[in-house]
Amino acid sequence: MSESALESARELLRQSVMHYRGRPVGTVAALDPRMAAAHYEECFIRDFVPAALVFLNDGEPDIVRNFLTTVLELRTHARTVAGHELPSGVMPASFKVLVDEKGHEKLQADFGERAIGRVAPVDSMMWWTLLLRAYVHATGDAELAQRPEFRRTLTEILHLCLRDTFEVMPGLLVPDGCCMIDRRMGVYGHPLEIQILFFAMLQAADELMGAGGEETTLLAAAGTRRNILRTYLRFFFWLDFRRLNDINRYHTEELGPEAVNLLNIHPDSIPPWLESWLPDGGGYFVGNLGSGRMDFRFFALGNLLTVVFGLATPEQTASVLALYAERWSDLVGAMPAKIVYPAVEGEEWRVLTGCDPKNVPWSYHNGGNWPTLLWPLVLAAMLGGREDLAHHAFDIACRRLPAEGWPEYYDGRTGRLIGRRANTGQIWSASALILAWQFLERRSGLDLLPREEPLPAAE
Ligand code: GLC
Repeated sequence: MSESALESARELLRQSVMHYRGRPVGTVAALDPRMAAAHYEECFIRDFVPAALVFLNDGEPDIVRNFLTTVLELRTHARTVAGHELPSGVMPASFKVLVDEKGHEKLQADFGERAIGRVAPVDSMMWWTLLLRAYVHATGDAELAQRPEFRRTLTEILHLCLRDTFEVMPGLLVPDGCCMIDRRMGVYGHPLEIQILFFAMLQAADELMGAGGEETTLLAAAGTRRNILRTYLRFFFWLDFRRLNDINRYHTEELGPEAVNLLNIHPDSIPPWLESWLPDGGGYFVGNLGSGRMDFRFFALGNLLTVVFGLATPEQTASVLALYAERWSDLVGAMPAKIVYPAVEGEEWRVLTGCDPKNVPWSYHNGGNWPTLLWPLVLAAMLGGREDLAHHAFDIACRRLPAEGWPEYYDGRTGRLIGRRANTGQIWSASALILAWQFLERRSGLDLLPREEPLPAAE
């Protein structure tokens, strides 16, 4: 079963490679035989991540190196969008190759000025740094990251993320739609996905730049921020039944250093579904946290990455995976894995999404199931000692994805329906399956991404 699924995925991945002036530089987002929706002929930075890890595991690093160099060159230099200047170092959400009448090729990057919602991606610069780390780790080619333009880019990214703002807490404040969920979904503020990527990016940048160099002050600031962020996420974002009990009995309006409910979370904001849904042994990191605001929704990518990057303590890792096991039909169901649980409905949907018809309840970003989430699910399950869950998820994906033409997402409470407006031939659905197989069956690439506690050496 898995052989034919893999063969089909590999064929799709091969066809998706995008060339620029004769060199492979990335992969398009979808190759839908019925013609993918506009934009999907571009190479998205985040979509390329599982493909890049597959190429590295396969001993084909050139495309990853070319991609890293290309995106580096495309990053902003005093770029203005609608008259407003973006700071240096912002990386595009996607790019494509334009060919003029004379056959000359040119790259065109999208920093959000063409994307729906017109939001600049924040995750691109983080994934780029993480891929650079993966590339260096896989190839031993440390020289690439030491090149002046690479060091300069890393410095720009750090400056951008560490610069002074009005913030009191250590999280990174971002707008709605700036990460995998790239439309309005009420994820503005301090979404978990960005916080954990920020955390891992700080570690990767330190690994890449740490040896020598003039950026000691900047790296010291990065280290300090990372330490505070770690504690903050582990404590304030964490939710299990014990903590839910505490929050339910929180005092509010607390002042001064003795305050427990620092962010003034009101117990009445606990949604009614949570009490019966949260199992005794399970826990997770909440989706967002700010003043007077705790978003209790479960966001898969952020939670899985806390395990992958080792931000979750061993106990928290076990609890997140126990939650998956106990609430399998909600969080995985008929297709790994649900992007967010539960969906927002009714008035909440109207207010949070702005009545977005693509994000109706239990579809797309609003509770749809996304095959690309297979790879972080498999990796998290393996690193957390729940390989049974990894196999289970992998088998479900193998059974359906090739037969159904590699859809982008699925609809419904358990994800049985192919997404109403989903592309087929979605490349990161295919590359996630290959990558999951490489992790599970080959044990390769388990250490490509940075980890708080390095993995024990293989026996
Ligand atoms: C959708 C997804 C986004 C992805 C893009 C290309 O907009 O929300 O995360 O990068 O499609 O596949």
